[in-house]
Amino acid sequence: MQIKTITTKPFADQRPGTSGLRKKVTVFQEPHYLENFVQATFNALGGVEGQQIAVGGDGRFHNLEALQIIIRLAAANGIKKIMVGLSGILSTPAASCIIRKYRLDGAFILSASHNPGGPEGDFGIKFNTANGGPAPEKITEKIYQESLGLTSYRTIDHPDIELDQIAVFTLGDLQVEVFDPVSDYAELMAEIFDFDLIGGLLRKPDFSFRFDAMHAVTGPYAEEIFVKRLGAPADSLLNCTPKADFGGGHPDPNLKYAAKLVAVMFAAKAPAFGAASDGDGDRNMILGDNFFVNPSDSVAIIAANAHLIKGYKTGLKGLARSMPTSCALDAVAKDLGIDCFETPTGWKFFGNLLDAGRLSICGEESFGTSSDHVREKDGLWAVLCWLNLMAAKKMSVKDIVNEHWQKFGRNFYSRHDYEEIDSEIAHGIVDNLRRRLKSLQGGILGSLKITRADDFSYLDPVDGALTQNQGLRIIFKNRSRIIIRLSGTGTSGATLRLYFEKIEKNPRKMNQDPQTALRQLIELAEILTGIKKLTGRTQPTVIT
Ligand code: G1P
Ligand code: ZN
Repeated sequence: MQIKTITTKPFADQRPGTSGLRKKVTVFQEPHYLENFVQATFNALGGVEGQQIAVGGDGRFHNLEALQIIIRLAAANGIKKIMVGLSGILSTPAASCIIRKYRLDGAFILSASHNPGGPEGDFGIKFNTANGGPAPEKITEKIYQESLGLTSYRTIDHPDIELDQIAVFTLGDLQVEVFDPVSDYAELMAEIFDFDLIGGLLRKPDFSFRFDAMHAVTGPYAEEIFVKRLGAPADSLLNCTPKADFGGGHPDPNLKYAAKLVAVMFAAKAPAFGAASDGDGDRNMILGDNFFVNPSDSVAIIAANAHLIKGYKTGLKGLARSMPTSCALDAVAKDLGIDCFETPTGWKFFGNLLDAGRLSICGEESFGTSSDHVREKDGLWAVLCWLNLMAAKKMSVKDIVNEHWQKFGRNFYSRHDYEEIDSEIAHGIVDNLRRRLKSLQGGILGSLKITRADDFSYLDPVDGALTQNQGLRIIFKNRSRIIIRLSGTGTSGATLRLYFEKIEKNPRKMNQDPQTALRQLIELAEILTGIKKLTGRTQPTVIT
């Protein structure tokens, strides 16, 4: 096997964002683009000779071509073994599970998560390290630095490997193992959850639920777990065949993009439970009969009831949420007498806390929830948590949520996204507000007193790494919050995210529509930022 050294030129735009490198498919199709990033990663790791890694993706357009490129570079860089998901499919949580189970050195996950796919859509790649989690900032930054100075990469000449059957191939010293990640993942779920309890609920003739895989990666996992192992009727599952363009949809499980599931769940005779997952299987949306569970509430409710789940019976070590996620989780941590950490947006910041044994359950407002069973967020895990709670408590989704609000109060919460706005305008809005933060501190806005106005920074309690500029926070005396930050996952223009939170302890006011409950904060945010005026938009692109 002859190793070829290919001369290349650095690309200036390979700095990984919130979750890996995401670009248009057409960018990844440029000659050497992917090769450069993969070689930069290998270099940043100090070489990968003798290492074992996994690779797979969410099945989106360009997945298969990219996999073959990575296999060839792996062979040329001296990797000993590469495990490839059958047909190139590997969900993000399953990748994390596989790394940990087989003690691999890492994995490449090919996904742009919930971003649309197809030739005009998005593609992405991220590297997870030996703990199963996304590479921390110090590594992603090193990858970027390597990419800026890259002049060559190493590859081999070899025809494409057949990925549609379980098999083992050898390419020189490299062993390529095509494996089925579904069973490994399903076994991990069976260790955490009482499948008899959940299966009993799913098989009840008067219980019905829908899981929407959105033509993305979780289809095969959902069939194995819900239908084969738990005995649910096959028609409980929707859109379970992974497609390169996600069936033309936007694989983002929220009220806007999972519209078909939402229509079923908000119909007059709706199933008791509905859920969806995203492109790479790490996000989740939870619905009840005519009821939406806010993701910030979801993680808090799972944590508060975790003693009812087999895998968490012995108690929780700590909890964590990303900064913009509502403080509902903090109230649970206080009640349980454990820590609640507040981290920057992005799953990579939970890794150290999880590895240090200081954290059991964590989540983000962006439909991400998980625990220390892997080092990624995990959509199907969250769905199984909810089914477990419904079965154990013999309650509906709505009643479980209401019970929680009665005990802890309700954290009204909403996120407004302004997508694809002019990058200069978006940065201008954030910079302008950042400059005024000091003067806002201690002042009055509308009728509310501002107790804190800052740009969030995070000092990792485990390794002391400092991460700055993670979002502007305006915190009021009544603990309401307005947060504004720029997305780190978009691929065109800039996306501004505004987050609103207000705590309501009065049971009689808990059933308002969140947009109504948060109206004052929404209006104050416009006064503060002038987003509508400056962008010419009359409303956000997505409200969740
Ligand atoms: C978004 C979410 C963030 C999540 C990330 C990856 O990042 O806000 O919570 O971890 O996607 O799924 P953003 O685009 O806001 O940088
Ligand atoms: Zn995702």
